[in-house]
Amino acid sequence: MRRRALIASIAVVAGVVLAPPTSALAATTRYEAESATCTGTIDTNWAGYSGSGFCNGNNAAGAYTQVTVNAATSGTATVGVRFANGTTTARPATLIVNGTGVQTLPFEGTGAWTTWATSTATVPVNAGSNTIRLDPTTAAGLPNVDYLDVEVGASSPGLPSSFQWRSSGQLIAPKSDATHNLRAVKDPTVVYSGGRYHVFVSTTNQSGSYSMAYLNFTDWSQAAAAPLTYLDQTPIGTGYKAAPQVFYFAPQNLWYLVYQTGSNAAYSTTTNIANPQSWTAPKTFYASGMPQIIRDNIGSGYWVDFWNICDNAKCYLFSSDDNGHLYRSETTLAQFPNGFTNTVIAMADSARYPLWEASNVYKVTGSNTYLLVIEAIGTAGRRYFRSWTAPAITGPWTTLAGTQTAPFAGANNVTFDGTAWSQDISHGEMIRNGTDQTLTIDPCNLRYLYQGKDPNASDSYSLLPWRVGLLTQTNSTC
Ligand code: GCU
Ligand code: CA
Repeated sequence: MRRRALIASIAVVAGVVLAPPTSALAATTRYEAESATCTGTIDTNWAGYSGSGFCNGNNAAGAYTQVTVNAATSGTATVGVRFANGTTTARPATLIVNGTGVQTLPFEGTGAWTTWATSTATVPVNAGSNTIRLDPTTAAGLPNVDYLDVEVGASSPGLPSSFQWRSSGQLIAPKSDATHNLRAVKDPTVVYSGGRYHVFVSTTNQSGSYSMAYLNFTDWSQAAAAPLTYLDQTPIGTGYKAAPQVFYFAPQNLWYLVYQTGSNAAYSTTTNIANPQSWTAPKTFYASGMPQIIRDNIGSGYWVDFWNICDNAKCYLFSSDDNGHLYRSETTLAQFPNGFTNTVIAMADSARYPLWEASNVYKVTGSNTYLLVIEAIGTAGRRYFRSWTAPAITGPWTTLAGTQTAPFAGANNVTFDGTAWSQDISHGEMIRNGTDQTLTIDPCNLRYLYQGKDPNASDSYSLLPWRVGLLTQTNSTC
């Protein structure tokens, strides 16, 4: 009976739907009540809401809130409704998807109109456009509604369990001038923005001293010809600096370049990634230097390879110690780049070589999965990457492809265009599908920019002739 009555009420009010954000790729899309259809008023008098207000529905049956959700494929969606009910009586509502009542959410009293809670349901969705409506089942109407968080599942096939790659030839090699006699370019980080790839690398010179360089180009075929800007000739300055990571920190509208200085993690910022002269002078992340837990565990290793990734609430700074430990510090999104604290061992191995350095952590678009890769040193000293996945940046991490025989990327699963110029697949970074601090990657057709070297080179580490090449996944099923 109730269901029939509800469907009838939809017919009366159909066609009042606001244009929704399109979310075919986003894992979770927030539909603020102030942007949804609200049979009532958009109010701001009770604190704690997100966005610019909440829907205070009329206290009447049929006074609904509705959003339109786009799903890439049919499947299920998780709907989280944030609400407040300052009365002591529940305000139940039917969740109606595309005109069909799916389930009733109770919306019990939350204790105060300023106390917000989230009620979650899983609902079926069609490919394309779907209406999701909250329709009160009593004449008291809805609770105050802040937003609906909708996560459409089954829109992404996720990561495979094994990987196969083809490598380009050497794409980026040293370019020297009168004051920079380079030996290697290494540790690439890359972002695609404004129609160009922006690549930052470490450099070493003939005496084994580290610095960094920048280049940009529209296409990988142009990489070899792109001029290098030596970052010691920018406000980033001279002295030991290496292992860059670049991303856009959207909350501040700033690009960040994160790098190591030996004794600390440092960063520079700019509003224009294409202008290397616009980077700010280095600042450090750790006000008190190396955290105690790292001092206690680093042994004779080195504190290297800083990697920042953020979720909706926090930013996490990872680092390695060449002694079998991956560390993770955290700060809030609001405090970033300050306040990194709570440093923990995110992963450890009793042997140092299997958990060496050069970690990357990414969010896989269209799923609640994070990918972690860490460089290991295998037999014959060859570098390769191991991989893990987790539902959150803080883990727990489950091995994905983690051996030298079946690695994430290594000599055993990489073939070459032409000469096999490297047997090492070493420090690098994935080609992301975005630019911001959430470090998103598409799980399909992965590409990984890496450092490799002549298999016969036998110099000390800082004199090895590293070059940069690009891996393209060949076993993508999507
Ligand atoms: C109060 C409160 C509103 C709420 C309403 C209700 O008027 O201020 O925010 O929507 O009660 O009972 O629905
Ligand atoms: Ca109300």
